[in-house]
Amino acid sequence: MISSIRSDALVETAQTQIPAEVRKARMSDIAPLLELINGYAARGIMLPRTEFELSEGMRDFVVAESEGRLVGCGALHFYSPTTGEVRSLAVAESAKTHGVGRRVIEAIIEEAFEYSLDAIFVFTYVPEFFRKMGFGEVERGALPLKAWKDCLRCPKFQGCDEIAMMRVLRPEHWATSSQKWGNIPSASEGTEHVALPIIRSQ
Ligand SMILES: CC(C)(COP(=O)(O)OP(=O)(O)OC[C@H]1O[C@@H](n2cnc3c(N)ncnc32)[C@H](O)[C@@H]1OP(=O)(O)O)[C@@H](O)C(=O)NCCC(=O)NCCS
Repeated sequence: MISSIRSDALVETAQTQIPAEVRKARMSDIAPLLELINGYAARGIMLPRTEFELSEGMRDFVVAESEGRLVGCGALHFYSPTTGEVRSLAVAESAKTHGVGRRVIEAIIEEAFEYSLDAIFVFTYVPEFFRKMGFGEVERGALPLKAWKDCLRCPKFQGCDEIAMMRVLRPEHWATSSQKWGNIPSASEGTEHVALPIIRSQ
């Protein structure tokens, strides 16, 4: 889950595109990924990631590389057999507003289609960006509690105002699926239950 702590969401206009190759991440990307993500984390914009977490989740990541430098990243984390979550989306400050974020999201969406996912979701403070990527806002309560598990280690756990957004990829499946979120044990069955963070005021 991308647990941004606050937004740097100035409304920006995409200018000229910069040449960037978007590809699956390699283990050698870990150091620049840590620098990119934790650079924003230090400014309270994203949740920090450790080398261990990145190593564990490296197959989730796509990166954008321009002139030999890592300028963007994003991850698709499988959540259930038919849903996934966009995490750790970031574009280097110097490369922002040049279409890199869009290309990273497009690659993630393409991958989600390849895996026949019905829908992907994100928790974000930059809803305008995700709206442009075809996501729509959903009630936080519409997402199962398990999706909020990263929130437990977020400093804003008790006062979170992130926006939940979703993009349905296969509407015909999504509409008819009886188990949209897979087999999630109820609170009485296991230890998955977490308290739902405070809902933002409108
Ligand atoms: C959000 C972020 C990934 C966008 O990346 P980017 O490469 O600058 O975005 P792009 O240039 O691909 O922009 C694509 C479109 O979104 C719009 N957009 C980009 N950032 C925006 C923002 N903060 N608010 C509103 N619209 C935005 C652009 O104007 C562009 O619109 P257009 O195609 O109509 O011209 C980047 O600003 C970032 O890394 N922010 C810090 C980390 C962060 O907040 N991550 C998101 C966590 S969920």
